[in-house]
Amino acid sequence: MDNASPLLSHSPWDGRCIWQGRRSSSAEAWAALDGLQRAFPAWAGQAPAQRDAALRELGCVLEGQQEELCELLITEAGKHPRDAQSEVALLGKKISITLEQGRALFPQLPPRPESDPPHTIYRPRGPALIVGPFNFPLHLVHGLVVPALAMGSPVLIKPSERCPAVAAAYYRACIAAGLGEVVALAQGGPEVVAPLLRHPALTTVAAVASRRTGAALSQALAGRPEVLLALELGGVNHALVCADADLQACARDLAMGAWSMSGQRCTATRIAQVPRALCPQLIALLQQAAADWQPQQACGPLIDGESASAFRRAWQQRPAALQLLHGEIHEGEGSNAFQAPLLALVNDGAARQHSLYQEEHFGPALIIDPYEDENEALARMAANPARLAASVFCAERSHFLRLAQALDYGQVNHNRPTAGARSDQPFGGRAASGNGRPAALHAANIFADACVIW
Ligand code: SIN
Repeated sequence: MDNASPLLSHSPWDGRCIWQGRRSSSAEAWAALDGLQRAFPAWAGQAPAQRDAALRELGCVLEGQQEELCELLITEAGKHPRDAQSEVALLGKKISITLEQGRALFPQLPPRPESDPPHTIYRPRGPALIVGPFNFPLHLVHGLVVPALAMGSPVLIKPSERCPAVAAAYYRACIAAGLGEVVALAQGGPEVVAPLLRHPALTTVAAVASRRTGAALSQALAGRPEVLLALELGGVNHALVCADADLQACARDLAMGAWSMSGQRCTATRIAQVPRALCPQLIALLQQAAADWQPQQACGPLIDGESASAFRRAWQQRPAALQLLHGEIHEGEGSNAFQAPLLALVNDGAARQHSLYQEEHFGPALIIDPYEDENEALARMAANPARLAASVFCAERSHFLRLAQALDYGQVNHNRPTAGARSDQPFGGRAASGNGRPAALHAANIFADACVIW
């Protein structure tokens, strides 16, 4: 795609064009980074309290724009109104958590003269590029912008090209809050990012993206180890259902984890390890629960027809070892972005080698994998290459804690869906789900380096 072609945004609900704009040219994006480099010393030189005031002002502006932002999340990102409202509600909280807990964890002020050495303070790295996703186009971009600015690093946002209208509205809020010199926006696809990776002022790239994009960024930056790359690349999230689990509650949470937002969450539940003896009962409950997650009423479409088609194609080509228990996959629905929830069963271990089991497929599908012995389930979960979020459903907290200790995932949840990350904790996964640079509460450490004073 050349940079001169227009950028159009179509609503996944009905395909109508809801926004039209321009892709940023390479020269514009480059000049934006030049501008951030010029603004960096003054911004970094401000007292943290001054930057905090500017970020609180951003919070006020965003609050005033809530209705518009919700509407855009619904029409452009295909969110259900309930999900749009919860995403918008996270924006203010992110600012307070960053300025309170984040600041305490990553202090920037030198220690008091009378305090004992050693001390660690965090110095801003400099201009950063933020590559945003379409599934939480506000919350996850904002979740990187706020800590970067709080620490003193200016940011260039390259939002998902599927959500340019949301990004434009967010950028307007930044300008209105007086952050125009330290926040820039470059609209477009990967063609906008590639030249920027050679910009000498670039210090940091933080991306929430697919594994393919993460690998491409990593390759492009291979010769520039001084540029910090922080990747959040999604996950293949497993839930472990134990023999004493409350099956009604478990079915409700598995359904919510797998099918809300039509499965377009990096923390969505993809696979449930279930004691073989409990499978018939749990499957029956999940089949009933599927009725509550029909996309037209309960969770919205996939981001576009193309993504929905790719998801359907992957499921049409499933191996015989993966039996479809619930949901229909219609062929020839190229432009239809709606996909009803799918429920499948591993009926032969060969299914575990398939990409539907091993890789993230962004859509509403839950695979039930029966087990005889809990250790067998733990071994399957340990073999998962993209260990972002896990859930354990069991009665006893002490049992859960033993299992949580054994599960090397970015987060392990007790009797709750895998879906959802906490802003007040670090967020990031293991192995293929990222590169060990957690965001959320720890995002400040992506944009600032430790300096030891003693
Ligand atoms: C996701 O689930 O895609 C992001 C995590 C979150 O903030 O809930």
